[in-house]
Amino acid sequence: MEKTLVLIKPGGVSRNLIGEITKRLENRNLSVAAMKLMNAERSTVEKHYAEHASRPFFGEVCDYLTSGPIVAMVISGANAVKAVRSTMGATNPVEAAPGTVRGDFALTIDDNLVHSSADADAAKAEIELWFSEGTVK
Ligand code: PPS
Repeated sequence: MEKTLVLIKPGGVSRNLIGEITKRLENRNLSVAAMKLMNAERSTVEKHYAEHASRPFFGEVCDYLTSGPIVAMVISGANAVKAVRSTMGATNPVEAAPGTVRGDFALTIDDNLVHSSADADAAKAEIELWFSEGTVK
């Protein structure tokens, strides 16, 4: 059993896709282990994307994540990290296969609707960043 972090970004929340995205994960027999709708602190978002701090889009992605409410979720299940990534589709929606969340609902990388942890180490660090100890099922 693995756990991974999912963020539904402001574009996904404003387009009322919380249910659609969560349904796709649950349909795959993945479980919601924690979930909160929140306005993210910029400092949390900057820590979340810290490895990209020197890249040209860093300011833009931090602006986007703090532009409106997001949903932070912990998703658990067998092979959850890879299963969630494949459910979401390629990071750049124009390369995401039809049938994935990004392939079905997004067009551009600056509004790619969701984040999911890249690997098990990132998942552990990101869950600790977004959720206090004892709040994850
Ligand atoms: S990945 O999946 O980490 O390998 O993707 P990568 O291309 O390295 O991008 C890392 C995150 O930065 C976001 N990103 C951007 N946001 C806004 N504008 C531009 N141009 C841009 N380029 C990359 C990308 O969506 C990744 O964030 P997440 O939250 O994982 O989708």
